Amino acid sequence: MDTFHAAADLGARVSAWRRAGARIGFVPTMGNLHAGHFSLVELARTRADKIVTSVFVNPTQFGPNEDFASYPRTLAQDQAGLAAHRCDALFVPAVDEMYPFGAAASVRVEVPGIAEILEGELRPGHFTGVATVVTKLFNLVQPDVAVFGQKDYQQLLVIRRMTEDLCLPIEILAAATQREVDGLAMSSRNQYLRGEERERAAVIHRTLCAMRDQLRTGRTLAAVEADAHTALAAAGSTPDYATIRRAVDLSVPGPSERGGLIALIATRLGRARLIDNLLLDR
Ligand code: PAJ
Repeated sequence: MDTFHAAADLGARVSAWRRAGARIGFVPTMGNLHAGHFSLVELARTRADKIVTSVFVNPTQFGPNEDFASYPRTLAQDQAGLAAHRCDALFVPAVDEMYPFGAAASVRVEVPGIAEILEGELRPGHFTGVATVVTKLFNLVQPDVAVFGQKDYQQLLVIRRMTEDLCLPIEILAAATQREVDGLAMSSRNQYLRGEERERAAVIHRTLCAMRDQLRTGRTLAAVEADAHTALAAAGSTPDYATIRRAVDLSVPGPSERGGLIALIATRLGRARLIDNLLLDR
């Protein structure tokens, strides 16, 4: 697996593959790769001949008080892991390669509606940063198929909407969330958890499962959400939201609606802010 820092070099390699008839798969990441990321590479492999992964800690999707500076950067380890998972090319651009006019002056891709609620409301500008960098990466890599994790469910919806509305000829695939044995969704931010915070973090997936089970017993959406907040707080975390929404667009369901729903949680535990979700079948 070759690592490319310059977009022109990556473009030349991908063009050669394309001329030879290969389908190109793409997995954008911010690095510090774990089994969740590698599962995206594996899924891409089932739908493409050549796989490109990018590692770019994108400054424009972090708020001023967020963890851009301290986000874990582990390139050598990421390269070894990607090579072991048969990734074909790694793209590691510098900030000025992605933002030649500077991040503040960059053209921005805004996605109204879906990017303005939940994470978008709590992290203003976050999804504009994500949509902007993913558009740039899509243009540089020109993949046939790109893979995103269901772990970041709202991000997946934002990317799908953006891809469709901008008429990008790219198929967006969703990969299932990879979890630790106690159910905690794998995340680079889990390493911010200290001591017993790590054990307590299992409350997130446990609460998502409880939300699903309670809904099946006929409790109201409001009661289920209230119980979830209580459970998250009892484990020492501070929930930003624990909510049940329509999976199709994250809008608020009617009181008796039970099909096509998803439970979503964002909660703060120690220095970490963790998100997770669970699709609820009827
Ligand atoms: P990052 O957090 O590195 O995640 C890269 C991809 O891996 C995303 O599609 C994410 O949903 C997926 N992922 C993370 N944890 C996962 C898990 N436990 N199971 C399955 N998939 C998982 O998301 C980003 O980077 C950035 O916002 C990016 C899209 C790269 C734009 O900068």
